[in-house]
This record gives sequence, C-alpha cells and structure tokens, in this order.
Amino acid sequence: MIYRKATFADVEAIYELVAAYAEQGVMLARSRNTLYETLRDMVVAIDDDGTLAGVGGLHVIWDRLAEVRTMAVSPHKRRRGIGAEIVKRLMEDGEQLGIEKYFTLTYQPEFFKSLGFVVINKEELPHKVWKECIDCPKFPNCDEIAMVKV
Ligand SMILES: CC(C)(COP(=O)(O)OP(=O)(O)OC[C@H]1O[C@@H](n2cnc3c(N)ncnc32)[C@H](O)[C@@H]1OP(=O)(O)O)[C@@H](O)C(=O)NCCC(=O)NCCS
Repeated sequence: MIYRKATFADVEAIYELVAAYAEQGVMLARSRNTLYETLRDMVVAIDDDGTLAGVGGLHVIWDRLAEVRTMAVSPHKRRRGIGAEIVKRLMEDGEQLGIEKYFTLTYQPEFFKSLGFVVINKEELPHKVWKECIDCPKFPNCDEIAMVKV
C-alpha cells in the first residue's frame, strides 16, 4: 500500500468512493468542485494494483484548528488499518503547519475514538465550522457526532 498526497488523477476515484458511501447515508457527498478545490487537503492510499483503497482530508478552519474529513476506505479493504494510517499522515501534515486541535463530524465515532478523539458538544466548535454546512442537505438538523483531539 502506498500513502501519498492526492493528485488530479485520483479525483474521479475519490468522487465515486465517497458518492457510494453518501448514497448509503454514512457520509456526506462531496462534489467534484469541492474535491478539486480541496485537492491539496487530501491523502490517498493506493493499492498494489494501482486502485484507490482509501482517502482522507485535513481542512484548515481557523487558527491552529483543522477538520479531519472525507474519510473513506474501499468497502472490501476496511478494518485493515488503512483509515488509521491516513489519519496519521494527515496529522503529520497538520503538525508541520502547527495545528493544535483536530475535529471531525462523523457517524463513525468508534473509528475516531480508537485514534484518541473524544466526543464534544457541537456548540463548542467555532461558528466558522458551520459555514460549509449551509450547503448540506441535512442543514440545520445535523445528526453527525462532533469529536476532537487536542
Ligand atoms: C470509517 C472508515 C474510514 C475507517 O477506515 P478503516 O480503514 O476501516 O479503519 P481502520 O482499519 O484503520 O480502523 C482502526 C480502528 O478503528 C476502529 N474501527 C474502525 N471501524 C470500526 C467500526 N465499524 N466499528 C467499530 N470500530 C471501528 C477499530 O478500533 C479499528 O481497529 P481494529 O480494526 O484493530 O479493531 C471506514 O470504515 C469507512 O470508509 N467507512 C465508510 C465511510 C465512513 O463512514 N466514513 C467516515 C465519515 S466521517
């Protein structure tokens, strides 16, 4: 398995992986526009056959605060540590930037708990976090769980 920063060549595979999970309602869809705009946020896991095994993104939100987002591992490759390794790589990037607090909004609290995240009240996050939520079909009735790691 190779872990590296995402490139344009990965966008279509990321789009399809995320869209398939979004259709099941387990994560939010990401438009191609968003994927291109946030391409530099993303780390991918590429399998030996060159196919996308997983993706994750780290999006800077505010002073020393970043969101871990767009976490998705191919259905047949889950529970092999790929997701955890992607988050580790994202946090290595974050460390270089000086990120001190990571948060996520998720339906998979057990995964993030295993990585040291703890559940918090959504209201504890700065208002800026909600800027992008306005475009979400679930807004304003967000049922995702907010978690942080300091
Ligand atoms: C969430 C997701 C990215 C995790 O990736 P993954 O590669 O399967 O996770 P890992 O193998 O690195 O798991 C690390 C640890 O997290 C925990 N964990 C992961 N998935 C879990 C689950 N479904 N239930 C309980 N614990 C889980 C376990 O402690 C696991 O360690 P273990 O396998 O040694 O017990 C993946 O399951 C996925 O793509 N899910 C569908 C999309 C989604 O829900 N994305 C999250 C949106 S925020």
